[in-house]
Amino acid sequence: MGMLKLLSAALTALLLGQSSLALAQAPEEYGRCAACHLPDGAGLPGVFPPLKDRLAPIASLPDGREYLVLVVSRGLAGPITVADVPYFGMMPGQGGALDSAATAKILNFVATELNVSAAGWQPFTAEEVDRVLAKNADADVNQVLNLRQALFAQNPELQ
Ligand code: HEC
Repeated sequence: MGMLKLLSAALTALLLGQSSLALAQAPEEYGRCAACHLPDGAGLPGVFPPLKDRLAPIASLPDGREYLVLVVSRGLAGPITVADVPYFGMMPGQGGALDSAATAKILNFVATELNVSAAGWQPFTAEEVDRVLAKNADADVNQVLNLRQALFAQNPELQ
């Protein structure tokens, strides 16, 4: 990790302390995500991609739902572009610390509370998360990247 990224991570930790009051309704489990993506999901350009106003359209596509469950559970590594900003990071999978119900709860929070328009998608359930994880039992960070590339190539509007 370069010096700039270390500084950014320290800044993130500082910001986190100050802005957590603003989103008092966030489920406790979202705290794991907020450590990097920030309490309001804005992220840190070039370091942690934003989640705010991005997940509802992805959650309206079957392949997108599968992708979101796998990113949270298994993580993601490699080059991605979000809103024209390049990222080459590594998100550690959170599946070891989150059960399926917690994963569904977090995704539902991010795609509704952190999204201007939450229309067009159905809430995630623990059963759906279980199904996706069983179907992709061996998926690692690199395979999650492959899924993302296929998803975004077929649906360029998600960019
Ligand atoms: C340690 C920091 C860290 C934590 C904790 C973390 N993420 Fe991430 N997340 C990242 C990074 C870095 C990336 C981009 C990885 C890359 O560049 O390939 C990312 C990518 C993502 C993406 C993909 C965005 C896209 O446009 O495809 C989603 C969705 C996501 N994270 C959601 C979450 C959620 C939900 C949580 C909490 C359960 C979480 N993250 C926890 C660092 C983190």
